[in-house]
Amino acid sequence: MIDLHCHILPGIDDGSKNLEVSLNMLKMQKEQGVDKVMFTPHFKIDEMTYEEFLQKREKSKQLLLSNEECQKLNMTLKTGSEVYFSLKLLELDDLQPLCFEDSDYMLIEFSTKMKPYGIKEALTSLLSMGYTPILAHVERYGYFAEDPTLLYDLVMDGCLAHINAETLIKNSVRKRTAMKYLKWDLVHFICSDSHSDEHRTPNIKEGYEVVRKAFGEDYVQWLTDNSEKVFDGRDIDLSVVKKPKKFLNFWI
Ligand SMILES: [Fe+2]
Repeated sequence: MIDLHCHILPGIDDGSKNLEVSLNMLKMQKEQGVDKVMFTPHFKIDEMTYEEFLQKREKSKQLLLSNEECQKLNMTLKTGSEVYFSLKLLELDDLQPLCFEDSDYMLIEFSTKMKPYGIKEALTSLLSMGYTPILAHVERYGYFAEDPTLLYDLVMDGCLAHINAETLIKNSVRKRTAMKYLKWDLVHFICSDSHSDEHRTPNIKEGYEVVRKAFGEDYVQWLTDNSEKVFDGRDIDLSVVKKPKKFLNFWI
C-alpha cells in the first residue's frame, strides 16, 4: 500500500519530533503493509517563507534518508508538502517544489472554520497552470458537509480528494460524512495523515478495512491503484461521480 499524506519527516512541523520517532513511524507503516510513503510536512505561507520551508524540508529529508536504519527498511520514500490554502500561493513563481516529487499533484488543506474566500477560483487557476490539487481530509470541512455540491464541483473541475483513515476507524458524525463522499465517488484515496508513533499513528490498513466491509474489494483496489498512480506521478482513471442531491433536508 501507499500513503500519500503523513508527517514523518523529523523536526519540521507538528509531526515527528525527532529521528527516532520518524523511524518508529516508518516501521509502523511497514507493519500496516505500506512500502511507499510520500512525506508531506505542513507549509503555511503566512508562517514561513517558501525558501525557508524548502531548506528545512531538504535538511530533514537528508537526516532521515541518510540514516542506515531507514535505508534498511527498503521503502520507497518521496517528498511533497501539505500546503495551507492561501491566495498568496498564486503569487509564487514556481509551485512545483511544493508538489509531490516527480509530479504536479499538490496536497492542499483549508481552514476548518470558514469557507476560504476565492477557493473555487484559486483551485481553477492552479488547474489551468497544470497542477492537480489534492484536497486533504475533505471530511473535516463543515462547509463541504453543509453543501457537498461544492466538493462535487471541485472534483468535476479536476481536483482530487482524500479522507483520513482515522475518520473511518472512529465512529463519529465525520465518519458518516466520509462514507457519503465515498458513496458519491468524491474521494480518490485514503491517507493516514499520521503525526507520531503514539497518537495519530500510521493506520491506513484499518481505514481500508472499513471501506472493504462497506463497499467491497473492488473499491479498495481502485483507491489503492489511484494512490500508486499518484505516487508515481501518473494520471488516474476517474470514476463517474454521483451528484449529491438534497431530500427533506438530507444529502443523499
Ligand atoms: Fe496533514
